[in-house]
Amino acid sequence: MKLSVIGCGYLGAVHAAAMASIGHEVVGIDVDESKIASLSQGEAPFFEPGLPEILSDGIASGRLSFTTDMAQADGAEVHFIGVGTPQQKDGYAADMTYVNAAIDALIPHLQPGDIVAGKSTVPVGTAAGLAERLASTGATLVWNPEFLREGFAVKDTVDPDRLVAGVPLGDEGARAADILREVYHPAVAKGTPFIVTDYATAELVKVAANAFLATKISFINAMAEIAEVTGADVTQLADAIGHDARIGRRFLGAGIGFGGGCLPKDIRAFTARAEELGRGESVGFLREVDAINLRRRERAVQLVVDALHGDMFKKNITVLGAAFKPHSDDIRDSPALDVAVRLRGLGAWVTVTDPEALHNAARVHPQLNYVEDRDEALRGADAVIVVTEWDEYRGGLDPEHAAQLVAGRVIVDGRNCLDAAAWRAAGWTYYGMGRP
Ligand code: UGA
Repeated sequence: MKLSVIGCGYLGAVHAAAMASIGHEVVGIDVDESKIASLSQGEAPFFEPGLPEILSDGIASGRLSFTTDMAQADGAEVHFIGVGTPQQKDGYAADMTYVNAAIDALIPHLQPGDIVAGKSTVPVGTAAGLAERLASTGATLVWNPEFLREGFAVKDTVDPDRLVAGVPLGDEGARAADILREVYHPAVAKGTPFIVTDYATAELVKVAANAFLATKISFINAMAEIAEVTGADVTQLADAIGHDARIGRRFLGAGIGFGGGCLPKDIRAFTARAEELGRGESVGFLREVDAINLRRRERAVQLVVDALHGDMFKKNITVLGAAFKPHSDDIRDSPALDVAVRLRGLGAWVTVTDPEALHNAARVHPQLNYVEDRDEALRGADAVIVVTEWDEYRGGLDPEHAAQLVAGRVIVDGRNCLDAAAWRAAGWTYYGMGRP
């Protein structure tokens, strides 16, 4: 099929390349010329495992191209909208500027029967309004939320655990759902659940999923706070409750909490939208979820301060990690980088290392010292804090080896990802999050 993808950020670039990889002819369109230039060369503008390969394969096959020219969308059967919906600068609601601009630019290029498939995360009610704006073109709007995780984005796009299509009523909706089934043919053929809903349900599925995940993380972090005053170990607690299949162990990792370009802004936008709808109290708990999450960053900083007996002046602190999670170079709302910045603000000398995110981090926080080589970064540290659980820090860092490099054997495990006993055995003072 011939497809267009409007917006070539994280979601759109991965979607375009993934759709080409399953046999479609795809044009990716974005207003950012430098992004289009690098994608056209087969270069991913961000770190995402597997993306460079499918980008260059797609371009070499002739099925994948990128442009700033919206006219190239002419003739595509399905137009995906994958632009960003960041948090507004002066509020909690989602900024819809890019979605509206994409629709405005696309309208002159639509033909009757075309499908416009919204993938951006939007406030519930958006799709109904957009469908009205598209009515005069004869195109049909479908809401097709995206559930990809950074670091696994290619796999999640090609082989998702479910597909959701919010469609209009009647034959028009049934036809649109069939066309989307054709788009996602390999996943549909292997029996991936394909759930057809109305617009509002499809929009809500997305924010509800992210709200649930955020709540799960903050729940276990709340238990970590209780563990801290009772001497309990939250990691054992998570293991024990996680064995209950109704609860499950995933997303019960206590630590410095969630960040990134999705969970934090999505729960805030959901809160703002619910308030607009007169149902603020229904998701009032999400404010608490947010507050618990932010408290954990402060807690991690406090552990370092306490470990150094309150004296941060001219202390060397090595921060292992900058990305908001491993397998990503994304530093948007990164708890890892936030902790580093706070430590620096207390007067310490802060050295940050990360396998992928240093370049992005240095652009936003030039006041920190960045060192690429992990061992070099550890040299002379008075305290070390792990804030992103990259393999090279969790299992890949030998406590005996690290002990030879540092000035003081103090380690704060902001992700509860280290073997506490092994670090203690090597002479380190180990502090976990919600662990004795
Ligand atoms: C999240 C959702 O998981 C995806 O399903 C969704 O499609 C995406 O947002 C989106 O809306 O686009 P992502 O932001 O890539 O994906 O990251 P997650 O894997 O969800 O991790 C989010 C944060 O939670 C990270 O900072 C991670 O370190 C933290 N986390 C995760 C924990 O603190 N504890 C855990 O147990 C798990």
